[in-house]
Amino acid sequence: VSRHSASVAEAVAGGGGALPRHVAIIMDGNGRWAKKRHLPRIAGHRAGVEAVRRVSRAARAMGIEALTLYAFSSENWRRPESEVSDLMGLLRLFLRNDLEEMAEENVRLRVIGDYRRFAPDLVSMIDDALARTAVNTGPILVIALNYGSQAEIAAAARRLAEQARDGALDPASIDEDTIERELLTSDLPPLDLLIRTSGEVRLSNFLLWQTAYAELLFVDTLWPDFDGAALADAVQVFGQRQRRYGGL
Ligand code: IPE
Ligand code: IPE
Ligand code: MG
Repeated sequence: VSRHSASVAEAVAGGGGALPRHVAIIMDGNGRWAKKRHLPRIAGHRAGVEAVRRVSRAARAMGIEALTLYAFSSENWRRPESEVSDLMGLLRLFLRNDLEEMAEENVRLRVIGDYRRFAPDLVSMIDDALARTAVNTGPILVIALNYGSQAEIAAAARRLAEQARDGALDPASIDEDTIERELLTSDLPPLDLLIRTSGEVRLSNFLLWQTAYAELLFVDTLWPDFDGAALADAVQVFGQRQRRYGGL
């Protein structure tokens, strides 16, 4: 049985009211949250970090195995330099302040995306945080940093092409599982639920492959207002969805 159909079978067996194993969130609306309060955009991002703290704690308490948070997209470099640098500063603060708690709570921190393009001190901080929590066995917190889904898929295609060129892979054998194994999410549970806050209804280059059969939920709440209760509501809605995977 392929990995894909095995995960589908497990999900179907889960039935109604099931808890999602893997939830991903496009954390959007920090800027609008600040604007509503006549505050600078960075105030919205600061409040957004508070929401990250609340929601990741709530996800752990609920028993969600993996939480993936879109923190910086490969397109976010298009923002003014000052905003990019504010976001990087907040990431430094988050790693400094929250790593201890994550380590103690047995959280496995993971990063998807090309974070090596960040400043060298930040790259070392991220590498240290990953190493520090690598031995943990509990819930997984995945932060998407300089992540772009199309680049992820292109990189997978490139690696498979190289293997084929070297004679290590028969092109005829390439199927969905072959590609899935090359993605940055290959060792995570299948994505069950994707939430986007702030009312925007688009994926913005996030987990395009992985959302093939994920349930999608778009909520109007701005990210800094999102909390454990909002996550519980989302999980409740998920539990009422009927996942058919093309069947009946
Ligand atoms: C999401 O909030 C945070 C990041 C993309 C880093 P935004 O900064 O996109 O907030 P809005 O969309 O301008 O309200
Ligand atoms: C998506 O939000 C990226 C993150 C949440 C990190 P954006 O605010 O960057 O998305 P667009 O530009 O509205 O599509
Ligand atoms: Mg936005």
